[in-house]
Amino acid sequence: MMNHKNFASDNYSGVHPAIMQALATANVGHVPAYGYDEFTDELQTVIRQHFGDKAHALPVFNGTGANVVGLQAINPRWGAVICTESAHIHQDESTAPQVVGGLKLLAIATDDGKLTPELIKTQLYNIGSEHRAQPSVVYISQTTEYGTCYTTDELKAICQTAHEYGMKVFVDGARLSNAAAYLGISFKEMICETGVDMVSFGGTKNGMMMGECLVVFDETLAKSLVFLRKVGLQTASKMRFISAQFIELLRNDLYLHNAKQANDMATLLAGELDKLGIQPIYQVQSNGVFVKLSKQAADAARQKYAFYDWDTQGTVRLMCSFDTTSDDVLDLASLIKQA
Ligand SMILES: Cc1ncc(COP(=O)(O)O)c(C=O)c1O
Repeated sequence: MMNHKNFASDNYSGVHPAIMQALATANVGHVPAYGYDEFTDELQTVIRQHFGDKAHALPVFNGTGANVVGLQAINPRWGAVICTESAHIHQDESTAPQVVGGLKLLAIATDDGKLTPELIKTQLYNIGSEHRAQPSVVYISQTTEYGTCYTTDELKAICQTAHEYGMKVFVDGARLSNAAAYLGISFKEMICETGVDMVSFGGTKNGMMMGECLVVFDETLAKSLVFLRKVGLQTASKMRFISAQFIELLRNDLYLHNAKQANDMATLLAGELDKLGIQPIYQVQSNGVFVKLSKQAADAARQKYAFYDWDTQGTVRLMCSFDTTSDDVLDLASLIKQA
């Protein structure tokens, strides 16, 4: 196995040692299955400390599952989900939203991966006509698939517009911690005080072995989600191991520490590339840097490091993880410089 870092995705990284230790600590004796264990109980308390007193936590296996199960719970069968064209549910979840969730998506083109009230309103026509799927949910990603972040004002404006038109707001927070670190705000400020209805809080990309957590603020919704999670194949029988990881991630702000390291390394990388005359295509507001590289530079860097092509025009995505170091970044930049 290769013993060096890559810049392909933040899920190429391993598990943070404190999370590994938390898994080992949870690995004692027999406890009730399916979430009726003391770790999942404690997780409710910990999630309420971060997301407010009304929060309910539902751990799931992965981000695609969290999105599909969560959106299903708030979208009626005749409803549609408004999202960006770059949205993970639109580009990276195969047909799971359609086949598993029965979800109709209304995808909107954007410059920076972000929706705005104006963009959302372009889909608000034929309201009340049974011939058109009725826009019912607004799905946004924080951070976005382009590594950009919504400010709290932007989130408030989206929630206000959505609610005005009877829609709910779902936040795909696969990288919610990176957004919190960049914006310097708590989850309460980012999610509860802006009016978001449901969030999928990501663990996998921030140092956990695996797991995401749906967070909702309505007890009736939380109760129906328990059933939908099972129907959607996302109910872990040994749930204590997902819950124990989240407890550790949220304890002593490990989530912030990990996210900040990943973000800082992306900022460093962008700075190093800038010295070579290579500017980021999108603002670097989290742990991803999108740049155009010549084929020669990309090929040279790929001799050592993996990273994704983002389009057919030479744009690549360079992702930093919680364990990316400045040595890794400087080495990648020097390979590009040499080429
Ligand atoms: C924005 C976003 N949402 C969700 C996910 C999680 O997907 P999964 O855990 O199913 O790979 C990802 C992973 O790349 C993502 O980037």
